[in-house]
Amino acid sequence: MVHIRRLQNTDSLEQLTALLHRGYARLGAMGLNYTAVDQTAAVTAERIQGGHCLVALWNGELAGTVLGKPQDLESECEYFRRPGVASLRQLAVEPSLQGKGIGRALIAACERWARESGFAELALDTAEPATHLVALYARLGFAKVDTVRWPGKCYRSVVMSKRLVGG
Ligand SMILES: CC(C)(COP(=O)(O)OP(=O)(O)OC[C@H]1O[C@@H](n2cnc3c(N)ncnc32)[C@H](O)[C@@H]1OP(=O)(O)O)[C@@H](O)C(=O)NCCC(=O)NCCS
Repeated sequence: MVHIRRLQNTDSLEQLTALLHRGYARLGAMGLNYTAVDQTAAVTAERIQGGHCLVALWNGELAGTVLGKPQDLESECEYFRRPGVASLRQLAVEPSLQGKGIGRALIAACERWARESGFAELALDTAEPATHLVALYARLGFAKVDTVRWPGKCYRSVVMSKRLVGG
């Protein structure tokens, strides 16, 4: 029922941004000022530039998204600058469709992209106080490798990474 494909030029960045806002609202309510809580469509466009943005469709409707980024030499996060490391960002599922496996499918698709692009690892970061997310990523094979303090964020982030086999 879930179909994952690359974001196309004809997709609306306003709709994608609104989905990110709805997905991240719970984290915002926890006092965690993730960028995706209230980023503008222009910021969404900036963030996906040079990345591999995927969307999940559920019965043909936009239901989720994830962004894969190649090694990012401009990142404030030292781990994301390392050779052989791709990173997973901007993961969100429509709140009414959570718990159906869409998030896991998006993460798996991002892993597939990273592996097929020749990366040895897929890293990600999330707020340290979001313990449910740290636990979810750990269940999916990501291990804590570092911490980072992003400028402007009120929390410290945990950096987690997963080695990709067959890269
Ligand atoms: C995190 C998120 C992407 C997971 O997507 P999802 O489609 O709900 O996830 P899945 O159905 O694939 O389930 C994955 C896990 O999420 C958890 N989960 C999903 N829905 C849940 C819900 N309604 N309540 C509690 N936990 C839930 C489950 O623990 C599940 O883990 P398990 O399969 O090991 O039991 C989604 O919940 C989301 O968009 N959250 C808000 C934004 C966010 O946290 N983004 C990541 C920031 S780093």
